[in-house]
Amino acid sequence: MRVVVAKSASAAASMVADLVEGFIGTSPSPALGLATGETMEPVFAELVRRHREQALSFAGVRAYLLDEYLGLDRGDRRAYRTVVDRLLAGHVDFEAGAVRGPNPHATDLDAECARYERAVREASIGLQLLGIGSNGHIAFNEPGSPLDSTTRVVTLSEATRTDNARFFGSGQPVPAEAITQGLATIAAAGELLLLACGRHKAGAVARAVEGPVTTEVPASALQLHPKVTVVLDPPASTGLTRPERATGS
Ligand code: F6R
Repeated sequence: MRVVVAKSASAAASMVADLVEGFIGTSPSPALGLATGETMEPVFAELVRRHREQALSFAGVRAYLLDEYLGLDRGDRRAYRTVVDRLLAGHVDFEAGAVRGPNPHATDLDAECARYERAVREASIGLQLLGIGSNGHIAFNEPGSPLDSTTRVVTLSEATRTDNARFFGSGQPVPAEAITQGLATIAAAGELLLLACGRHKAGAVARAVEGPVTTEVPASALQLHPKVTVVLDPPASTGLTRPERATGS
């Protein structure tokens, strides 16, 4: 695992954009795994800027979302599919149908999870972007998620619903359930790239990077993957007890 502490949150986002650009530029048939959430917003903004100003092209790139809320209306602006369209896909040159996610409106959700799991495995994700929850989740694999978990319907923890309440208005509850790729689904990607920014992520980052591999900290499963880069801003690195193992940007 390579741990990089960038000089700032914007430098960290820029570094992630560099790695995405490098992946797209060198892979003959790039399959990119997308995370959503506040952490990814500056990454998406930087990718859109590079598309506009430096001709970074997403033609030929297939992209797969990690997860999606259940129970929101079609087109709800908080739905991750809508977020990706609004912040990234709607501004760059993905081909029609190239951005995919699990369908939260399917009548048979178990069948939809199995279908999406197959689609992601067949796509063979080359680079998977990840954020981390303050409770150590990746995608919506909450503490207790098995290492061999695959795409499934999950119940969100109270911690995650509290953290994500900022995206929802007062009086509008955060959905209780979601579809998420599992830890085994994520581990099948060729390379994992986790970005974490802010002091509120420092504890989860330290437990994921330095703690034991445990289902109580789903992101600790990254330690088992052969190719992982963790990009942090300085506040997110403050929980590391062995910061000398991290490299500067
Ligand atoms: C969302 C996802 C989640 C987020 C995590 C951090 O697709 O995979 O695991 O990455 O909840 O969210 P933010 O970036 O909003 O702190």
